[in-house]
Parts: sequence; C-alpha cells; structure tokens
Amino acid sequence: MSASPDWQTDYDVFAEELADDPYPIMAELRAQCPVAHSNRHEGSWWPTRYEDVTHVANDSDEFSSSQVSVVPLKLVHPGGVVSMVMMDPPEHTELRRLLMPFFSANNAERYRDLTRSICQDLLAGMSEGDTVDVVSAYTRQIPPRIIAAILGVDPVHADDFTEWAEGILGGGMRDPEEVARCQTLLTEFLQNEVVARQESPGDDLISELLAMEVDGEPLSPAVVFANMRLMLIAGVDTTWSAMGTAIWHLALNPDDRHSLVDSDESNALAVEELLRAYAPVTMARIAKCPVQLGDAQIETGDRVLLSFPAANRDPDVFPEPETVQLDRTPNRHVAFGYGQHRCLGAPLARLELQESLRELVKRFPDFRLADPRAVTWSGGQVRGPRALPLVLG
Ligand code: HEM
Repeated sequence: MSASPDWQTDYDVFAEELADDPYPIMAELRAQCPVAHSNRHEGSWWPTRYEDVTHVANDSDEFSSSQVSVVPLKLVHPGGVVSMVMMDPPEHTELRRLLMPFFSANNAERYRDLTRSICQDLLAGMSEGDTVDVVSAYTRQIPPRIIAAILGVDPVHADDFTEWAEGILGGGMRDPEEVARCQTLLTEFLQNEVVARQESPGDDLISELLAMEVDGEPLSPAVVFANMRLMLIAGVDTTWSAMGTAIWHLALNPDDRHSLVDSDESNALAVEELLRAYAPVTMARIAKCPVQLGDAQIETGDRVLLSFPAANRDPDVFPEPETVQLDRTPNRHVAFGYGQHRCLGAPLARLELQESLRELVKRFPDFRLADPRAVTWSGGQVRGPRALPLVLG
C-alpha cells in the first residue's frame, strides 16, 4: 500500500492513514479544497461537502451508477444482467419498486427476534474477564446469518458469505484473483439456490422474487440472481463494519456505552448518531457529461466518489460534527446514501445495529479495548475494524 503524500491532488483511497483515521483529512479537504482529485487507480474526484455529495448522489441525469466501486472493479455479470445498484432510471425505478415492500420497516421487524437471539447465543459463549476479538466472534457472525434467513439458505453458509463479500468489496478489491475466486464461488452457490427455489419455492426472498412479474412477464432467474448477489455483498460487510466501529467508540466512551441501554428511544437515536459519525460506506458515480462541481471541472467518464463519511461531518449541516452526541436531533445523516439509490436495507441494518449493541452492553457493561494498537481497519469502499480485541467486563 503506497502512502498518499498530498491529499488534495494525489490521495490513495486505500492509504492506511485514511483507513486508520480519515476524519482530520476529510476536515482539511473540506475547508481547503473541497473537491480533491487523484490519478491513482485510473483516477477519481473526491467531493467532501454534504451539498456536493448529495447533489452527485441524487442527479442521475449527470451521473450514472454504471460503476459504483471506488476503484475500477471487474465484476462478472452472468447473462449481462446487473443488479439494481448499478442501474439508472427508468430500469432501476421499476425494480426498486418491486423490492421495496420486502425491505419496509414493518417487514424488517420480522427479523428482530432472530437478530436478538443470534446475538444472545454468540454472547453466551463469552465470559467476564475474557479477551475476545469482537469482530471475529461477534460482529462478523450476525449479518450473514440474517441474510441466510432472508434468502432461505442454511445458516451454516454464513462464514462463506462473509468471506465472499469481503473478497469482492473489502480487502479483495486490490486483488483481482481474489475478486474472481469469490465471485465464482458466490455465483455457483446462488445460481444453485435459485434453481432449487424454482423447483421448490419457500417463504423467502428468492422465492418471492421468482413469483414477481414486470409487464406480465416473470422476473428472469438472471435478474433474481443479480439482485440476490447484491444483498449478499451490500448487506454483510457494510453492517458488520458499522457494528464494529460503533463498538470501538463505545469501548472508548463509557458514558455513551451506559446511556445506550437507557431506553429503546435512546438506543435508536444513538445508532443514528454512530452511523452519522462513522458511516462505513463510500460509493461512486461516473459522469455522463462535463460537470462543474465547485472549482472542479469533471469530464465525461470521470469517476466521482460519494464520500458519505465526509458528508456526515460537514459543519454546515451538523453542528460540532467531530463530536459524537448520541441524542443528536435533527440528524439528517447520509450513511445510507441519498436519492434514488438510498439503501433498501436501512431498516434491517438499523435493527441489527440496535440489537447487537444493546445485547453486548447489557451482557458486558464494562468492556474496554484490550490493546488500542491491536485494532486494525479496512478502508476504501467500506471502512470498519478488522480486528478489535476487547476485555469483557
Ligand atoms: C450499516 C449497514 C449499511 C450501510 C451503511 C449501507 C449503505 C448503503 C448505501 C450508502 C447505499 C447507496 C448506494 C448508492 O447510492 O450507490 C446502499 C444501497 C443498498 N443497500 Fe445498503 N447499507 C447497509 C446495509 C444493507 C443491508 C443489511 C442490505 C440488505 C440486506 C442492504 C441493501 C442495499 C441495497 C439493495 C442497495 C441498493 C439500493 C438501490 O440501488 O436502489 N444494505 N446501502
């Protein structure tokens, strides 16, 4: 990994310094730049103001979702069918409308009890005084089990899901062979599941999608496959990264930790503020035409990063943005994106965060970092701790 000597003109989205502590760098860019540029990884622009990030996210006339990764990524799309996150209107609008009911807040509640019991089971295996890497023993375990339930697949595959999602979105992004290996395994697995549901439908999202129609025609298995693959990639790495960073914050801030379990309301507000302060996901768009953004002249075909983490710390929108205030209201954070592609899984992610943090703090009210130097971070598309040893108390 190469160091980034000049953040305004030569940043590296994978720089270790950026993964370890991105916020001072973002604050400096926002105050001085505020749209940075780099030629690394085939070039990109990096707007850091809330107004610019939300403008790019929301303007599908000028910016396309045809590539949403922070660096060029060779994804193979069986049958040439891409998932909804890579579509522009009007194709995107129709597919999103079909999927919305499944991801509504009411429907997501179906998974709250399951989430809580997964958390409780994982915590039951830990004891006061233990030193535990909470990433491998806890956060990494929760989202893939929920996705398995949604897709109606055996939870025994949860570890595979995490490995594939990380291989495609996480550390694997810089390693084309790892991306290809994980894609092949994920593709084979999901294609088999789609065939199995065609033969024997169940009470799960794959079966529901196979039964849906657009203009009187059923959705093709290729469309179902592409969007199930998206669920796996979008719902796993993102959520456990957000959980891990929240736990890191709570380990360092005992008052916040204790206030989190006061009531359902304080728990829900705290989750929003932790999402604001530590938004894990950065996406991208490709310019469809020349666009002026601040001082930056963006040309057709240029990649523009959607730094939701930077937008969420813009002082023009959030008073004292660098301070975590768990009862912050209003809180118009964009951790789940903005505009047409705003995260469909947000209600589910919220309840996974609420339950996982509450159960951990209830069971171990006094956990702390075992060794701050042992904490490691991933950066790039999804930021979060990859090792987080805690002493449980
Ligand atoms: C804390 C956890 C999560 C975060 C921070 C997050 C963040 C995001 C963001 C920023 C986007 C916008 C993409 C864009 O503008 O290009 C997005 C889209 C999406 N997310 Fe999430 N996500 C999370 C969890 C989930 C979960 C649990 C699921 C589903 C199981 C999910 C499914 C999706 C889908 C399907 C889209 C595409 C929506 C569209 O294209 O219309 N996400 N997510």
